[in-house]
Amino acid sequence: MKHKKQIVIALIAFVLFLPLSNMLGLTSKNESIAFSQGTSPSFKAASNILQNKCVDCHSPGMTRFPFYAKLPIAEQLMEKDIKTASARLEISKSMYSGETKFTPLMLARLEGVLRNDSMPPNLYLSMHWTGQLDQKEKAAMLAWIAEEREQLAWSHDTAPTLKGEPIQPLPLTVSLNQNKVLLGKRLFFDRRLSGDQTMNCASCHDLTKGGTDQARVATGIRGQQGPINSPSVFNAAYNLAQFWDGRAKDLAEQAAGPVANPGEMGANWSHVLEALKLDDSYPKDFSALYPDQGITLLTVTQAIATYEESLITGGSKFDEYLRGNNHILTPEERNGYYLFKMDCASCHFGPTLGGMSYEKLGTSQDYFAKRGSTLTDVDNGRFNVTHNEADRHVFKVPNLRNVEVTQPYFHDGSAATLEEAVRTMATVQVGKELSQSEVSDIVAFLKTLTGKYHGVPLQSLKEENL
Ligand code: HEC
Ligand code: HEC
Ligand code: HEC
Repeated sequence: MKHKKQIVIALIAFVLFLPLSNMLGLTSKNESIAFSQGTSPSFKAASNILQNKCVDCHSPGMTRFPFYAKLPIAEQLMEKDIKTASARLEISKSMYSGETKFTPLMLARLEGVLRNDSMPPNLYLSMHWTGQLDQKEKAAMLAWIAEEREQLAWSHDTAPTLKGEPIQPLPLTVSLNQNKVLLGKRLFFDRRLSGDQTMNCASCHDLTKGGTDQARVATGIRGQQGPINSPSVFNAAYNLAQFWDGRAKDLAEQAAGPVANPGEMGANWSHVLEALKLDDSYPKDFSALYPDQGITLLTVTQAIATYEESLITGGSKFDEYLRGNNHILTPEERNGYYLFKMDCASCHFGPTLGGMSYEKLGTSQDYFAKRGSTLTDVDNGRFNVTHNEADRHVFKVPNLRNVEVTQPYFHDGSAATLEEAVRTMATVQVGKELSQSEVSDIVAFLKTLTGKYHGVPLQSLKEENL
């Protein structure tokens, strides 16, 4: 598979791009673009590099085609390459002229290929040395990426030298309506939200277990085994959408799901709302906080969502490092972070190291063939939402905050330990076999991400701290 792709790339590179630049002498001198006002010198330097060495494949419509590109096979091959390249990173003219910003996801993917020296593709480079980025160009690109990240709200209290990092700290406090938080908290722990009054949200999202049930798959009402692993509710507010396949657009929409799901809490919302209306204090609390609505599906799920927005685990060791404590990480943890930035942070970036994008599980190797067991419906991932073939086995990248305590891992709960999860990620997502010491350094780094809730480290959080 991989081999075939490389041959195709080599072919395209050889047939099209090598003669293209050499024969036509294409450089940025040929075309001058108008930069938008306010673009910085770093941006201009990066933009020149992108235009000279990247847009031919990453900017549909901007490719400088050689005369023979009109031959049917050449055109097809080239179009396919441009299509795969732009599906991962499309650099439009408005972007390299500075009118439109690069998103944090694009910056993360760019940093990934720069740290790996993987772009332009190797086989293209082996025949076309002028395409390669030299150290100066690489440094210029990284400096621009750092500058873009400095402007994001995420990095407002990060130490000045670390504002450009792909990972940013979680806030130490969040400002929310405290009465709504408390109301949502009562609902989160209220067993009347389940059909037989035995389960609450915490049954599967136990805050003393990292916001999960620490089980391979969830167990619903009357002991039913669910099809999929319970993700953490801690820091879920950062996710671009909820569920492994992103089928709920936000926390409130998500909260409506498990209550009515016959395999989870197995209740009926109209019965639940009736029961809550008979409570001693809910009616008056809801009319104080939601005066026009009272107790409805919408207000109940909104209150739960507000409580979940308060479940932010700032104060981890890694965040202390990001805020300027330069001596807090051990050499192993530092090296783990270095390796993580090279191989993992193109998908696991931002304050929660994930939750910001969808990615295919098995970009380098077939995860499911390796796992062996029969494919289930949930293995389809985002395909179940979009019915687009390209989304088969695509999942929301999980957040890696507190992974130390959210075992087992993956949507199918198939990795029992963090070591195993890291090793599997390296093979199926990156195409690398990590050494034992590399795995343990990455794990050591991941353990620095365990944060605090109500001032207590998650590993030792007890019921009385909630
Ligand atoms: C010869 C065509 C070609 C050129 C030139 C090229 N790329 Fe790519 N690029 C690709 C292809 C093809 C992919 C998709 C690879 C894949 O999905 O396996 C890709 C993927 C990427 C990605 C996504 C990586 C990810 O995380 O999936 C980034 C970022 C990227 N390229 C940046 C660049 C930059 C920066 C340059 C210029 C220095 C560049 N590319 C030049 C063909 C090219
Ligand atoms: C029976 C166990 C169970 C119960 C009870 C339960 N959940 Fe979940 N929860 C899960 C599972 C399993 C998933 C993942 C399902 C999927 O992605 O298809 C999930 C997903 C979530 C997510 C998405 C997190 C992410 O990263 O995508 C949130 C938020 C959440 N649940 C909150 C709640 C709330 C609030 C309640 C109570 C109203 C609740 N859950 C009740 C098992 C449960
Ligand atoms: C191409 C994107 C991509 C890259 C690169 C990547 N991951 Fe992942 N990672 C994912 C996706 C998608 C999942 C969810 C897969 C699933 O659970 O089914 C995931 C899951 C994980 C999990 C399990 C989290 C949980 O709560 O279940 C860990 C741990 C992890 N990745 C660590 C890493 C490490 C370490 C690296 C680098 C060696 C890495 N990842 C590289 C996309 C990526």
